[in-house]
Amino acid sequence: MDESDKQELTPRELILREPTPQDAAWIWRLVRETGVLDHNSSYLYLLLCRDFSKSCIVAVDGLRVVGFISGYRLPESPSTLFVWQVGVSQSARRRGIASRMLTALIANCQKHAELEFMEATVTADNQASRRLFKKYAEQHGLDLVEETGFTEADFGFGDHAAEPRLRIGPLNQRVTVP
Ligand SMILES: CC(C)(COP(=O)(O)OP(=O)(O)OC[C@H]1O[C@@H](n2cnc3c(N)ncnc32)[C@H](O)[C@@H]1OP(=O)(O)O)[C@@H](O)C(=O)NCCC(=O)NCCS
Repeated sequence: MDESDKQELTPRELILREPTPQDAAWIWRLVRETGVLDHNSSYLYLLLCRDFSKSCIVAVDGLRVVGFISGYRLPESPSTLFVWQVGVSQSARRRGIASRMLTALIANCQKHAELEFMEATVTADNQASRRLFKKYAEQHGLDLVEETGFTEADFGFGDHAAEPRLRIGPLNQRVTVP
């Protein structure tokens, strides 16, 4: 963590917006810093920021990306938003940034097309992530159903824990940005 990562920030200083390709390298760096999320190439984040920006979001503190969510609409079921990676800088955690991003992301997606469900896969031990999604469902009065998702075997070789799927919805009313 460098000095800039240790600066204090308050949620009201944040800007939440769709990412641009200029954010991709910062997102890549943030993913590595989480120490938890799967590492992907910077190229992948360029593609996400260029081609899937409407289903992704960044939280920017000044010029620094301190949080992001990547996602995409399922090609065979575009009314379902799959939320892929969620990350917040260590120094900015537990201040509601992930919750604000998730709410803003859903609201933005709903501006562009009908959205009925949100899905994410989360390991059994990731309490922070589980709480994030559970809280969203509770706050908006939505059902949260846990399904099989991806098993350990699905990941093939290597050491990757199973990722049950959380399905939230139906998102039948517009959610406003707080
Ligand atoms: C998961 C993560 C994105 C949460 O970001 P955050 O900005 O700290 O989350 P929020 O402050 O919005 O908190 C959302 C809820 O989760 C809870 N929460 C956050 N971190 C928690 C933790 N470590 N343990 C238990 N609950 C936690 C919060 O208390 C809050 O619930 P509450 O309001 O009922 O108390 C962040 O911890 C992170 O980047 N983790 C590493 C990457 C990761 O695991 N991503 C998720 C898998 S895709």
